[in-house]
Amino acid sequence: MSVVVLVSGRGSNMQALLDAGIPVSAVISNRAGARALEIAAKRGIATAVVEHRSFPTREAFDAALAAEVERYQPRLVVLAGFMRILGAAFVARFAGRMMNIHPSLLPAFPGLDTHERALAAGVKVHGCTVHFVTADLDHGPIVVQAVVPVLPGDDPDRLAARVLAQEHIVFARAVNWFLEDRLVIEKGRVSVKGNDAQLVIADLP
Ligand code: GAR
Repeated sequence: MSVVVLVSGRGSNMQALLDAGIPVSAVISNRAGARALEIAAKRGIATAVVEHRSFPTREAFDAALAAEVERYQPRLVVLAGFMRILGAAFVARFAGRMMNIHPSLLPAFPGLDTHERALAAGVKVHGCTVHFVTADLDHGPIVVQAVVPVLPGDDPDRLAARVLAQEHIVFARAVNWFLEDRLVIEKGRVSVKGNDAQLVIADLP
C-alpha cells in the first residue's frame, strides 16, 4: 500500500503529500543535506540517502537507488523535486508505478529553469504537470495539469510561487487516484475512473 518518495531538496511537495495523508513509508534523497529529509524525519518517516556522487556511473547509482526503494516494496514511487535523470533500467523496473511532478505545462518546457523560460517565451499561461515517468525525460502520460496565468510584472520567483501552490494540490490528488486504482493508461493517455477533473485552472485575474 505504501509510497516511496524520492527528493533532492526543499521538500515542499513531499510535505504536501504527507499533509494530504498519503501513506509514505520512506523518503530517499540523492543529496545528504536535503531539507526534505529533515521534514520527513521529524514526522517519524524512514529516510535514506543514496548520494549520486558516491557512484562511478549512472547505472551504479540507479542500481543502488532501486535496491533502497525495493526495501519498502512500494506500490508507487513518487518523484517530488528529484533532480537526477533516471536511466532506462530504473524506469523500466518501476514502469506504470512511478510519477513525477514537473513545473510546466508539458510538453512545453521540459528540463530546468521552466519559469524563466516561460517568461522569456511570453506565454500567457503556465502551470504544472503530474505524469507517469517514462524513459523519455519529462514526457510520460499526463495524469493532471494545473494552469495559472502569467501576469504583468511577474518574475521567475513570483511565477514559481503561483505554480508551486497548485503543485501541492494536484500532486496529492494524482497520487490518491493511483492508490485508489482509478487511473487507466491507454495509448499513452491517462483517464480517471469516475471522471474527476484532470485539469485545474487557478488564480485567473
Ligand atoms: C518543484 O517545483 C518541482 O515541480 C520541481 O522542483 C521543485 C521541487 O520543490 N521538479 C522538477 O523540476 C523536476 N524536473 P520541492 O522540493 O519544494 O517539492
